[in-house]
Amino acid sequence: METVVSGIRSTGKLHLGNYYGALSNFVKMQNEYNCFFFIADLHSLTTHPTPHGLQGTVRQVIVEYLAAGIDPEKSTIYVQSDVPEVAELYLYMNMNAYLGELERATAFKDKVRSNPDNVNAGLLTYPVLMACDILIHHGTKVPVGKDQEQHLEMTRTFGNRFNRLYNVDYFKEAFAFSYSDKLVKIPGLAGQGKMGKSNGEADCIYLSDSADVIRKKVMRAVSDSGPTEMNQAKPEAIQNLFDLMKVVSAPDTLQHFDDLYNRCEIRYGDFKKQLAEDMVLATNDVRMRIEDIANDDAYIAKVARLGAEKAGESARKTLKEVREIIGIKRFY
Ligand code: TRP
Repeated sequence: METVVSGIRSTGKLHLGNYYGALSNFVKMQNEYNCFFFIADLHSLTTHPTPHGLQGTVRQVIVEYLAAGIDPEKSTIYVQSDVPEVAELYLYMNMNAYLGELERATAFKDKVRSNPDNVNAGLLTYPVLMACDILIHHGTKVPVGKDQEQHLEMTRTFGNRFNRLYNVDYFKEAFAFSYSDKLVKIPGLAGQGKMGKSNGEADCIYLSDSADVIRKKVMRAVSDSGPTEMNQAKPEAIQNLFDLMKVVSAPDTLQHFDDLYNRCEIRYGDFKKQLAEDMVLATNDVRMRIEDIANDDAYIAKVARLGAEKAGESARKTLKEVREIIGIKRFY
């Protein structure tokens, strides 16, 4: 059975983009593959969260993984820092990751541009740590979005380089993986691009948002003054709302509003109201489970312990072999 590995950085609550783009895929995969889903808390340290903030976001992601339907009996759900072997492997792999290639990574260059006063070494070697997350379990399938494609290519480079350096056939190549070719597009509410916290709070519908908050956010979503010509092309902000409706509403509802738009008879108030209600409905189960699980400390602890044990076992085996390959030996 092939191994799937994926992680979500613990930087806050998960939104609809995370849900439809990642979590709902994870849930399907767990029946067919050996799955490791973890909370990348070490990765999130690059932006220096407060200790209290860090604990809160890690807990939140565990809760939301579970609420989305990841089953801790089928998949291994764990917190990255509960498996210190990841950090040890990261040290070894850093020895053959080169400055030039790390500096060329698009995500790194973006961070340097957006955050010039916090260009730390952890940010530079972020792709090495990500590679270790995958290599430590010999993962071959990695469900991630387009923006992580380059990091996966680096993962293959680091693994292959290790194999060549030590003349072994040890690490496998990992590739991006998605269930459907048609990537579901989850745009935000702010009128531009995909849903993301970096576009502001109003852009995102969080899985934990109450029905009223969802309604408010949708009613305030960016739109325009309406079509003026029959069958006119939709500007981005409007297309985005239709794309969201495509995900949460029934096909004939979408068709209905599309027809109204094309006849210049659409009223955005009604359109948004329908979108909001369908969104509330689509997220209802997850939201209720979030509320239940968030209050269950004992269950969260049980899941985290089970995950740490299962992931730890896999990681310890890899580290034992890696130390041997490198020639690290105990003389006692
Ligand atoms: N870099 C990923 C992101 O920002 C998160 C991540 C860290 C990850 N380690 C991983 C994803 C390993 C897949 C596999 O989305």
